[in-house]
Amino acid sequence: MSNPEQPRATQKAQGLADLLYRKWQPIKALSIFLRMFYREKDEEKRSSILNRLCDYFQIRKQLPLHYEIAKILEEQAQHYSSYDYGKGYLYQSFPPAHLRGLRNTETRIAEMQLRSYVSGKMVFDIGTNTGFLACSLAPICSSITGFDINPYCIQIGNAVAKYFGYTNVRLFTGRFEEVQEKATYEVILSFANHSTYDHNTQHTLEEYFQKCAAYCADHGLLLFESHFPGYESEDQLEKVFQILQTYFQVTKRFRLQSKTSGDRGRTFAVCTKK
Ligand SMILES: C[S@@+](CC[C@H](N)C(=O)[O-])C[C@H]1O[C@@H](n2cnc3c(N)ncnc32)[C@H](O)[C@@H]1O
Repeated sequence: MSNPEQPRATQKAQGLADLLYRKWQPIKALSIFLRMFYREKDEEKRSSILNRLCDYFQIRKQLPLHYEIAKILEEQAQHYSSYDYGKGYLYQSFPPAHLRGLRNTETRIAEMQLRSYVSGKMVFDIGTNTGFLACSLAPICSSITGFDINPYCIQIGNAVAKYFGYTNVRLFTGRFEEVQEKATYEVILSFANHSTYDHNTQHTLEEYFQKCAAYCADHGLLLFESHFPGYESEDQLEKVFQILQTYFQVTKRFRLQSKTSGDRGRTFAVCTKK
C-alpha cells in the first residue's frame, strides 16, 4: 500500500521548502514545482503538489509552522508505510494557517452546520487525521479530543494547535480498537472512519458503533459522515445505517452537495444515543 516513490517526491518537496524558506529563491522553486506537477499522472497527487505550491507562496508569516509541517511530512514519507490520505501533502485543509487539503474543512463545517452541534460541548473526534476539524471547532466547543493511528498526522495537528494557542484541543496517537478513555463526550465525530481504506480498522461495524455509544454521554450526539459513494455503495451504506441504528436514532440525514470532489456525495447524519 505504501508508494516507494512517495519518500522521494516528499523529499523533493522538502528541498523546495528549503529553497523558499531559507534561501528565498521563489523562481527556482516555482520551476521545480511546476516540473513535478506536469510529470505527475495521478490527479490527486497533482492536486496535492499544487496545494503545497499555493500554500508556500501565500504565506510568509507562518513560514516556521509550514516548515515544521514539511519536516513532519518528510518523516512520514520515510517511515510511515501505511496509506497516505494526504497523497504527499494534506488530507484536511486549515485556512487560518493557509493549509490546503484534499478535503475542504470549512465547507464541511458549514454544510454540516457543525458549529451548531458542538457549541459549548465536549467533543470526541475518532480518526481525527491532522486534527484540522478539531482545531477549526476549538474556538466554540468546550473541549475537543481527537486521536489517530497515524502519529505524523497527530504531530502536525499538535503543531497547529500549539501555534494557534488552542489549549482546549487534545490530540493523541492511538488505535480506536485500543483507545481507553475514562470520559464520555457530548458529541462524537465519526467522519469517514467506521471502516478505513488503509485496512487499519479492525473493528467490525457492530464493535465500532458499540464503542461510539460507550463514549457518548446520555442524550449525546453522534455526527456521522460516510465515505465517498465510489468507495461505499448505497447498499453498503444502508447496512452501515442498520447497525448504527442499534445504538443511535437518526434524526437528520442528507447528502453533501459541496463543490469539492472529495466531499461531494457523502452522506451526513445527526444521531442521538438510544
Ligand atoms: C478517511 S480518513 C478520515 C479522517 C477524518 N476523520 C476526516 O473525516 O477528515 C481516516 C483516518 O482514520 C485513521 N485511522 C484508520 N484506522 C484507524 C484506527 N484503527 N484507529 C484510529 N485511526 C484510524 C487514518 O489514519 C485516517 O487519518
